[in-house]
Amino acid sequence: MAFDLAIVESIPGWLTQKESSLLYHLAKRCTGNGVIVEIGSWKGKSTVCLAQGSRDGAGVQVHAIDPFTGSSEHGDVFTFPEFQRNIAHSGIASLVTPHQKISKEAALGWTKPIELLWIDGAHEEEFVRLDYTLWSPHLVPGGVIAFHDSTDPGVWPIIDTYLFTGNSFRRIRFIDGITYAIKGKPIPGGNAIMMRVRDIKYALWKTRDTWRKRRRKKQSAHEFRQ
Ligand SMILES: C[S@@+](CC[C@H](N)C(=O)[O-])C[C@H]1O[C@@H](n2cnc3c(N)ncnc32)[C@H](O)[C@@H]1O
Repeated sequence: MAFDLAIVESIPGWLTQKESSLLYHLAKRCTGNGVIVEIGSWKGKSTVCLAQGSRDGAGVQVHAIDPFTGSSEHGDVFTFPEFQRNIAHSGIASLVTPHQKISKEAALGWTKPIELLWIDGAHEEEFVRLDYTLWSPHLVPGGVIAFHDSTDPGVWPIIDTYLFTGNSFRRIRFIDGITYAIKGKPIPGGNAIMMRVRDIKYALWKTRDTWRKRRRKKQSAHEFRQ
């Protein structure tokens, strides 16, 4: 089977199409050396991308970890029923094991090796750091770690500290808001170059975005006057 973007797009969430496709392909390349772990599932959009990739690859189990009560910015929510409906509707339920827990609780006693670790839970720095420190030791050599919302103020420092300036990840890449890397020794200087590339890419993106917003504001002010 192939990636069914239509199903993914029918599920509420924040992934761009490029990000969805990346998650599908990262899951598809898993060989069965470890499981797939997702921190932060919300209504299942990224879970379905991962599970579809797994289905079309080695059939690796996707562990979806989320209390399903939202993050600080979501208010009073409970997304588990919708998550379950979306997983069932997508036809990949047998590949998904939900853990209705916060990441810290789910990490207690965790022993399974992980081949793909997707971090998209609470975005405050202390939680992202916790997700990294509790879960990344389970990543197998050659396994992939991926962070969503890389430019968020709570996520950016963790990526800088542990991926770009640490010594445990190589081949750091970014697509839209996702930064991902392979566990293993980097080639000397390789990560520093990618860090500069990343800085330029996001600086350009920010400039373009500021201009776009300014132009839109001017346009609506003009329309208002007419
Ligand atoms: C941005 S949403 C995840 C979006 C999802 N990955 C998607 O693509 O649709 C963040 C999720 O993290 C969950 N969350 C908040 N704190 C958490 C924690 N400590 N451990 C695990 N999940 C957490 C929230 O319940 C929320 O569903």
